Amino acid sequence: MSDIDRARLGDLMRSETQRFVVTHPKSAAHAQETNSLLAGVPMPWMRRWPGPFPIVLDQASGARFTDIDGHEYVDLCLGDTGSMTGHAHPEIGAAVAKQMARGSTVMLPTHDAAWVAQEMARRFGLPKWQFALSATDANRFALRFARAITGKPMVIVHDWCYHGTVDETLVIQLGDRTISRPGAIGPQVNPALTTRVVQFNDLADLERAAAHGDVACMLIEPALTNIGIVLPEPGYLQGVREITRKHGIILIIDETHTICAGPGGCTKEWGLEPDMFVIGKTIGGGTPVGAYGMSAAVAAQVEALHDDDGIDVSGVGGTLAGNALSMAAVRATLTHALLPEQFVHTKHMATAWTTGVQQAYERRGLAWSVQQLGSRAEYWFCPPPRTGADAAAAVDHDLDAFMHLWAINRGILLTPFHNMALFSPFHVAQDVERHTEQFDEALTALTGR
Ligand SMILES: Cc1ncc(COP(=O)(O)O)c(C=O)c1O
Repeated sequence: MSDIDRARLGDLMRSETQRFVVTHPKSAAHAQETNSLLAGVPMPWMRRWPGPFPIVLDQASGARFTDIDGHEYVDLCLGDTGSMTGHAHPEIGAAVAKQMARGSTVMLPTHDAAWVAQEMARRFGLPKWQFALSATDANRFALRFARAITGKPMVIVHDWCYHGTVDETLVIQLGDRTISRPGAIGPQVNPALTTRVVQFNDLADLERAAAHGDVACMLIEPALTNIGIVLPEPGYLQGVREITRKHGIILIIDETHTICAGPGGCTKEWGLEPDMFVIGKTIGGGTPVGAYGMSAAVAAQVEALHDDDGIDVSGVGGTLAGNALSMAAVRATLTHALLPEQFVHTKHMATAWTTGVQQAYERRGLAWSVQQLGSRAEYWFCPPPRTGADAAAAVDHDLDAFMHLWAINRGILLTPFHNMALFSPFHVAQDVERHTEQFDEALTALTGR
């Protein structure tokens, strides 16, 4: 935890909360009136914004949105990556409207699906693809296939990973044990029976976990993004590949967030060689979709399973997965967004944001850090963490909440749960300047210098 004066932080939080309440009367009234929504929100995480109630959306477009109180915000959260293409993207909207008028879900393949699979193969380098409605589901299906073709039960993940609400992955490492992640409710089975947890950037830990000979797959983000950004040290990902190959472990790379590194994610940028690949959120341009790809070798084994007459519903898929509407949305997204020239702009924005934060720290002699991964960046109140465990230990919830509420009160939305900013092609230099200015003022308020 950072050595900020806690009494001062408490006073500042009280005055920011008061300012928030006074300036958001309609959102406050909405929170009182939503009796039929469990806990007042349609999805539990929407309670986790700073302030006594969430702001209520009016509409979003490009890099901005407005709330029902009439305030406009620069959106640096972008639906926690679901709208990385920018909100209400005109071409994606038009393609979705067109397909809606032609039938959205028929449980039949379409030309769009074939086009999308081919484009995914080109971008990410894996030849065979299928679709789901979320990255969570795509991860679930990838784990299931990995177990089916290896005949092995265990999964390896990184400490403090996040891959969606997938039971096997909602875990942390405690000594040499796997336990449920704090705050994960109702785990289905003891997660030690399904999962071994290793530290990011620790190949010896991975070698120990892999050597049991019972591991089907290792599911990773190539850089951790969900406990703040934790970057791989040189040689780490190559080591992961060597160890997983040596032990016959299927390496699944989940690029749902790390697509921020470039149009082909870290896999293309860094020359990674996954056996399976998962992505969701961004590729739908704001519509729900997930996808999983696989190498020719894995695909051959999966196809052999499907040829078995005994396979019934298989435990993979869903009636709406791969629906015509999703496929039209992904086709439009990959045609008009997430393009190389757009990444040049979004990375430039993220670099300017990072520089603004870094300079604000340096001016005050604070040994805190900021990390960038492509078009995503994140600030810390500590030096850069090496592992998920270091990162989790450094989280300062009170300080995070203050920084987020201060930003909201000045028209900027950051991703909740950590201090992340993400850029779309619609963000402009003034958006970054606005963040830098209010960030600097927040540090002055906190430190008195
Ligand atoms: C790396 C990663 N994988 C999977 C998911 C799950 O995505 P969804 O909640 O859209 O299923 C997330 C969500 O944040 C994620 O960050």
